Amino acid sequence: MEIFLDSVDLNEIKELKEFIDGITTNPSLIAKSGHKDKYEDLVSEICSIIKGPVSVEVVADSHEDMVKEGLKLAKIASNIVVKLPLTHEGLISCKKLWTEHKIPANITLCFSPGQALFAAKAGACFISPFVGRLDDISYDGLSLIEDICTIYSNYNFKTKVLVASVRSPAHVIEAARLGAHSITVPAKILRQLINHPLTDQGLAIFEKDWGVKQ
Ligand code: E4P
Repeated sequence: MEIFLDSVDLNEIKELKEFIDGITTNPSLIAKSGHKDKYEDLVSEICSIIKGPVSVEVVADSHEDMVKEGLKLAKIASNIVVKLPLTHEGLISCKKLWTEHKIPANITLCFSPGQALFAAKAGACFISPFVGRLDDISYDGLSLIEDICTIYSNYNFKTKVLVASVRSPAHVIEAARLGAHSITVPAKILRQLINHPLTDQGLAIFEKDWGVKQ
């Protein structure tokens, strides 16, 4: 399973770089980081640290402008994946970027299996279903992951299921159990997955018994 960090925080990215396969960003994360005006510099720095896919989202509305923005983003670094919204215009842009320019797309804001089907048919490299935001409205977000994994497997689609809007380590484990190809997580959840209080407790006992610490 590919594990991406959902962050534009350079300190977090440097801290966790050994554990991640790529980065996902979105306009809200970039705006909140205070780097909106110089986001291309920020993205370029992220791409110099992380060699795997770095998803960066367009903010244009029409497919003509989305493609232009996607081409501009793709020039920042060779590992850029253009993030496009799951709209009529986003799907057209995905198809154009891939078939005419071989630029991979991550189709984001996916909330239904039907949307995921069209993203795969548009040639998306990744589909990003948002589990947490579905849970927030009392829908079982992980059931969407199960449906998409089944549909993609039935038709041997190459699009990777990139589980997004992750709120807990349990989301990660269940997504892995369902066979999702990839997941993107905030730094807090990545740390929660790695650390365990019983590991800390056991280590303290071993060190004490060995005489390393009192
Ligand atoms: C994914 O690509 C998104 O950036 C992210 O997972 C959204 O998560 P949120 O619902 O916590 O904002």
